[in-house]
Amino acid sequence: MSLESKAKYSGVAMALHWLVGILVIVSWQITVAAEAAPDREARGEIMGNHFALGVVIFVLVAARFMWRRFNPPPPPLASHANWERALAKITHLAIYTFLLVMPIAGWIAMSSFGSGISVWGLFEVPPLPVPANEALGEQIFEIHSVAGITLLVLIAVHVLAVLKHAVVDRDDTLMRMLP
Ligand code: HEM
Repeated sequence: MSLESKAKYSGVAMALHWLVGILVIVSWQITVAAEAAPDREARGEIMGNHFALGVVIFVLVAARFMWRRFNPPPPPLASHANWERALAKITHLAIYTFLLVMPIAGWIAMSSFGSGISVWGLFEVPPLPVPANEALGEQIFEIHSVAGITLLVLIAVHVLAVLKHAVVDRDDTLMRMLP
């Protein structure tokens, strides 16, 4: 079925959606791999990729958010019920919030350990000027982990909702996010 271009997300929005989606899943899988690491050193090396990816994800999500401000998404499909529109809005907003807040929380936690974030040795994001406090850093990392699980649940809800539209309603929701 062909869709008018104004009824679809823009190419930039689509590219950022799928890129960020993939990177978030990769970033999560890196933490799973780190848990299985044989020792502290190996774990630290694997987690370096998670921290660097967090910087990349933050920049891409901030860019996506700005893009969205000036290039609003297409209006909801007429066939979507009011409760579906409301739920989609809340879920999307919550996902954006988590995607922006989680890397910042990670940055504050690293800074509490007096550490910056090396982006694969290309450049370093310096630590924030916060007082050294390892206990606080640990606590922020705990919150960061719980937030991560919450984000994964939100993403699961999001994907299930898209599947419902594709398989049960057989509407154009998914097509709007595909080239
Ligand atoms: C198989 C995986 C996924 C599919 C099939 C999918 C599909 C879609 C579709 C079709 C839309 C447009 C919904 C509409 O028009 O109302 C959308 C929007 C959105 N998706 Fe996904 N998505 C997936 C994964 C993800 C992941 C992993 C994230 C988060 C990292 C994510 C975050 C979002 C957000 C925030 C929006 C709202 C976009 C906006 O209006 O600015 N999605 N997704």
